[in-house]
Amino acid sequence: MLVEKNVPLQPYNTFGIAARAQTLVRVRAQADLSELMADPELGPAPKWVLGGGSNIVLTGDVRDVVLKMEIKGLRVLDETPRAWIVEAGAGEAWHDTVAWTLDQNLPGLENMALIPGTVGASPVQNIGAYGVELQDRFESLDAFDLLTGQTFTLNAAQCAFGYRDSVFKHRAPASPQNASLPLGLGLAGRAVITRVRLRLPKPWRPELGYLDLERRRVQAGIERPEARQIFDWVCDIRRSKLPDPAEVGNAGSFFKNPSVTPEQCADIIAREPRIVHYPMADGSIKLAAGWLIDACGWKGKSVGKAGVYDKQALVLVNRGHGADSVTGGEVMTLARAIQTSVYERFGIRLEPEPVVI
Ligand code: EPU
Repeated sequence: MLVEKNVPLQPYNTFGIAARAQTLVRVRAQADLSELMADPELGPAPKWVLGGGSNIVLTGDVRDVVLKMEIKGLRVLDETPRAWIVEAGAGEAWHDTVAWTLDQNLPGLENMALIPGTVGASPVQNIGAYGVELQDRFESLDAFDLLTGQTFTLNAAQCAFGYRDSVFKHRAPASPQNASLPLGLGLAGRAVITRVRLRLPKPWRPELGYLDLERRRVQAGIERPEARQIFDWVCDIRRSKLPDPAEVGNAGSFFKNPSVTPEQCADIIAREPRIVHYPMADGSIKLAAGWLIDACGWKGKSVGKAGVYDKQALVLVNRGHGADSVTGGEVMTLARAIQTSVYERFGIRLEPEPVVI
């Protein structure tokens, strides 16, 4: 277990916000977590888990002990007639894991190429892109319970995946009865994901339902693209729409796409016929938050050093650099101003996607 004091977090969050961790522990093996729990000073202290830092807004220095997940390892665990099972350490970069599976000729993750962050963070918000979500490729995960010091395994149902949501985003009400019951309750602040197993179904079939991808396929005149081709298209589309955090700090989509009832949607269409909306399997209608924000005139605008990306209004960016970076407070001020505009014009409340610390 490696313990560091007064650590700058700017390199560890893709927004590039300057903040410090009073104490940061590098977790490179599960044994580090047991050691941490046994430590007289760190064991009882509140803890906060940091993955790739690609879905967080830091609004100040972090007082909780920061657990920086660096557990590595990639392997093909099993092959059945219906799937390959791949296991990855929580500290592996998600995109490198996608690329590695394709190098092993194991397709299935290509639609989720170039999503920033780590494997361990991928189930927390059920990452997804271009028609595929983590839950569609998920087998199980191992986690460490910070309350009891025990390890446990969860399957997909136990993770309670939803749209950019899971059991890891919710807190259980504090009660002594919950102490020995890690399943079915909110696990935020409690479970540390150490390994994730992915299920890549056989036979592989291309997922081209997302309009941007289908457009690429038609343009290229390819009837049935290979997984590698889809990977390249997804990387291309993302690079053209989304800022590279290495150049412009950001946390991906800043708000979730809101869901409305067909009646609410019909009401909005009557006023805004061009609104981008998609019917969902459960009968609800999802609206494109990027379109709503764009329609309110926010694209390219700034408040202080917090900006709205000029090619995708759903992405908030850091218009400062280094010591002069945006603060979490500025980002949240801009976010609230956007929420107010969208609410006043459309009557819809946008919900932030990143975790605000
Ligand atoms: N749109 C606008 N103006 C904008 C932005 C978008 O009119 O400024 C319109 C687009 O023209 C399009 C629609 O809104 O018709 C949807 O835009 P896009 O295809 O870019 O996708 P999105 O709904 O904005 C979601 C995910 C992304 C994911 C893409 C592709 C959420 C919150 N975001 O974005 O995920 O990459 O679909 O699947 O669900 C993330 O979660 O961080 C993320 C980047």
